Amino acid sequence: ETNFDGGRHSRRVEKIRNYEKCKRTEYCTNKKVERLNIVEHPLVKHKVSIIRDKNTTVKEFRELVQEIAGLMVYEITRNLPLEEVKVETPITETVAYSLAGKKMAIVPILRAGLGMVDGILQLIPNAKVGHVGLYRDPETLEPVEYYCKLPGDIGERDIFILDPMLATGGSAAAAIELVKRKGGKKITLVCLIAAPEGVEKVHSQHPDVDIYTAALDDHLNDHGYIVPGLGDAGDRLFGTR
Ligand code: PRP
Ligand code: URA
Repeated sequence: ETNFDGGRHSRRVEKIRNYEKCKRTEYCTNKKVERLNIVEHPLVKHKVSIIRDKNTTVKEFRELVQEIAGLMVYEITRNLPLEEVKVETPITETVAYSLAGKKMAIVPILRAGLGMVDGILQLIPNAKVGHVGLYRDPETLEPVEYYCKLPGDIGERDIFILDPMLATGGSAAAAIELVKRKGGKKITLVCLIAAPEGVEKVHSQHPDVDIYTAALDDHLNDHGYIVPGLGDAGDRLFGTR
């Protein structure tokens, strides 16, 4: 890939890789990668360490994926607009704040994205849920689409596409493309573990999409697995293999 663009792609991947390493140092602000948000909360970090552990059971893994997704809601909704509302407390009337009527949709990428849905719905119970079915061909690593059902008014909603793993980025980029084709406009990608290669692919194909991740890992291995990663998220969530 380096030869086609004079090394621009690999330099960007390197920059994204360095982002995680340098962001705690003073000069990191200059190297910040736009539209990539790493959720830094200690509880998130703690729980991500447990899902990485190969000895974590299916039950624990499933619970933790939900909990991490729930904790990430605070970050992914940080910029939702508010409006002033009048409220009568038992003491007096006051001006308070309410979400400004924005409609939301969450769209898990099947299968593994399903593991994040309930954690998010606990905090955004009125969100509509769409589904995109994609699997990664084990030979080519290319995404294969098999299902898509989205809310009819998807174009009017703030959309959060969910997938715990952003590896080559093929599945996420294809899911975003599909949602856009169905009318989706304001899209955010929420994952738990991302590889620099996946971030680069999504950003280059969809520069309008913000990515939120709980961790940015080092690289992909020869089979397209994230290193250090957590293995196959779908298998670990559903106990298949
Ligand atoms: C996994 C994962 C992502 C995809 C990431 O799904 O949940 O959807 O791989 O890889 P990529 O970034 O290289 O496309 P998988 O294809 O294993 O399907 P599953 O969720 O049904 O297990
Ligand atoms: N899909 C997964 O579930 N894990 C990886 O590391 C890469 C793709």
